[in-house]
Amino acid sequence: MKLTVTTDGIENIAADLLALPLSKRALEKDAEKALSGLGLALGVLKDFKADAGEMTLLYGTGGKCAAARIALLGIGEGNSPDDWRKAAGALASKAVELQLSRLGADLSGVIPVAGVPGHSFLQLASVFVQGCLAGSYRFERLKSGKLEKPEKKKSPKKKKEISELILVSGKDDASLIEKGAAEGMVVGTSRNAARELVNLPGNLLEAEDIAKAAKESGKKYGFDVTVFNRKEIEALGMGGLLSVNKGSFHPPTFTILEYRPKTKASKVVALVGKGVTFDSGGISLKPAEGMGEMKSDMSGAACVIGAVEAAARLALPVHVIGLIPATDNMPGGTAMKPGDVITTYSGITVEVGNTDAEGRLILADALTYAAEKYKPDVIIDFATLTGACIVALGYSVAGLFSNDDGLAGEIAEAAELSGEKVWRLPLWDLYAEQIKSDVADVSNTGGRGAGSITAAKFLEKFISGHEHWAHIDIAGPAFGTKNTGKTSGGTGFGVGLVIELLKKWS
Ligand code: BES
Ligand code: MN
Ligand code: ZN
Repeated sequence: MKLTVTTDGIENIAADLLALPLSKRALEKDAEKALSGLGLALGVLKDFKADAGEMTLLYGTGGKCAAARIALLGIGEGNSPDDWRKAAGALASKAVELQLSRLGADLSGVIPVAGVPGHSFLQLASVFVQGCLAGSYRFERLKSGKLEKPEKKKSPKKKKEISELILVSGKDDASLIEKGAAEGMVVGTSRNAARELVNLPGNLLEAEDIAKAAKESGKKYGFDVTVFNRKEIEALGMGGLLSVNKGSFHPPTFTILEYRPKTKASKVVALVGKGVTFDSGGISLKPAEGMGEMKSDMSGAACVIGAVEAAARLALPVHVIGLIPATDNMPGGTAMKPGDVITTYSGITVEVGNTDAEGRLILADALTYAAEKYKPDVIIDFATLTGACIVALGYSVAGLFSNDDGLAGEIAEAAELSGEKVWRLPLWDLYAEQIKSDVADVSNTGGRGAGSITAAKFLEKFISGHEHWAHIDIAGPAFGTKNTGKTSGGTGFGVGLVIELLKKWS
């Protein structure tokens, strides 16, 4: 999707679809004038309510307007970036559905609301472009088209992609809108790259493919990527990752992405992402129903790749290290068994109460390695860690855990800006009682109660006393299925949040 910002009059925008964003207020005040100026009948305003994401398509402007179609695009009260995001998403999704190639949007009437976080020309332009990229994303690469009806096959396969997004800006605001839109392009495309990885099934994305994806991104956008293979992981003694990998036909990988800014870094930030390419549960096998969704158990890894990539592309003045332990979790004659005791990279021994609590085992190694090797200012891990987090917070909200109130607050603010919802849960020591083991230093299961908190308490034991750590459990929001109120498939959750956070520290 090519991006153009213009200060041309909207009547001159030769788009296939030109959107006029309207708030409820503007609907009352200015809509009539705008519509009649474009030669459009006003009757339509009777039904249009300007709810966020609501859209009415209009045709036939009697030659007054160069665009083939006009969309009245509701942005609700117009004072929330989330409404803008939603509106842009609905608009772009419609454009893809209609197979339209050139999409325009009039941002010249935008009035940023003072005092609302995220409400500036720059930020709204970024949000709008991100919304367009999110709404136009489709996972199509595994569709061969061979079973399409013959008449469809004959006509050259139309690509369902928007070729150009044209933003119309007021004269005074063009440079801010340009800057915001360019940033939105980076975040939106890196997020979609993360979604693509999440959507790839287990047979097409093994641990080595995660490493490869990181390498390709590093090469393209100029950051370093190091991959440890099985031998190197063994030499390091990463017993968590190796144990989870024991039942697998495919070797594990441990990938390190490192972006160093050209200027002096304001902070060193380690991002750890769970990279389980498929989670069958192992010997503690999951039920068959919905097991296929566990191809998304590497969403934390995808988030980390997308975030490091976007940070590098935006040349943010932060030193970012991404760490990704990756494997699938499979049963088999050589697989890890319930009752096994394993020794992690830290030397801490773990009794395996349940082989399906595998994410914390591979994260344990990565967290210790991050803390000890890089001594970062901050460590944040992203993981589809517990079903319990979905029980607690549902499908659109991530669980946030941190041993640092300041960091938790900053993450919550960043999440507010990025439109990704997080909610903090406690890390009180009383919960650690549940993961005591009779035979080892700690158990990887904590029983039925407070499953996402006991998982976080487990991780906390492996950060080598680091005082600025946060764990974000993205089991709910990382992946959409039917009836979750989200688009289906990978969401790229976390990429925008990390970028907002790094911008705060810039
Ligand atoms: N990957 C799952 C968690 C998950 C569940 C993510 C549903 C997304 C949707 C994780 O590895 C897991 O299996 N956790 C277990 C832990 C339990 C065995 C202590 C769970 O949540 O049941
Ligand atoms: Mn599991
Ligand atoms: Zn898992």
